[in-house]
Amino acid sequence: MFFMLYFLVMITLYNAVSKDGYINEVNGSEDFVPYEVWHEFLELCTAYDVFAMGKNSYQAIQEYEPEERRLFESLPIKKVVISRDGNFTPQKGYEIIRSVSELPKLGKNILLSSGPSLNDVFLKEKLIDKIILNVIPVKVVSGLKQFSSKEPNMILKSEKNTQEGRVLCSYDVVY
Ligand SMILES: NC(=O)c1ccc[n+]([C@@H]2O[C@H](COP(=O)([O-])OP(=O)(O)OC[C@H]3O[C@@H](n4cnc5c(N)ncnc54)[C@H](OP(=O)(O)O)[C@@H]3O)[C@@H](O)[C@H]2O)c1
Repeated sequence: MFFMLYFLVMITLYNAVSKDGYINEVNGSEDFVPYEVWHEFLELCTAYDVFAMGKNSYQAIQEYEPEERRLFESLPIKKVVISRDGNFTPQKGYEIIRSVSELPKLGKNILLSSGPSLNDVFLKEKLIDKIILNVIPVKVVSGLKQFSSKEPNMILKSEKNTQEGRVLCSYDVVY
């Protein structure tokens, strides 16, 4: 029965990446990600019923400008933080789960945006169905990559160039 439920769930991983494949800079900053990308991300969220992130990504969002955070936190989407730390509780408006296997029980069309720590776990558990990359035309040179271990096998499904020189790529993940 659980297997059938999982079968009906779609998990899409979204990341904004530099053209050399980094999701943040070595000091943890995401300053290379232009302002409009956050607004595109908020628009993307409206197509999903759940948004999930790792504890570190949650903490990064808490450092955003209050208005930027408010726009995200007021979206009518279930916001889920994943952490094994029993002493950690996110603020009101976020749900907490302790294991990646709990996520598919929370919705049908799930958007995930995390760093390599959690992305690796989801990939290893074969839980990522699609990947959307918003590729920003700058080189970051060092920082965190989308995955720290094995890269997924992906099939490019669509590619769109924006006026600002970014490329929006959508992939299916093949296991
Ligand atoms: N450019 C982008 O698109 C983008 C998107 C998202 C994030 N980011 C950046 O990525 C950075 C964070 O990435 P990160 O890799 O350090 O962290 P992360 O993936 O956001 O979160 C890592 C946390 O997830 C939890 N976790 C890991 N494995 C788990 C498991 N098996 N079960 C349950 N929980 C598990 C752990 O929390 P506990 O230690 O509490 O268990 C771990 O510390 C931030 O700088 C953020 O700005 C960039």
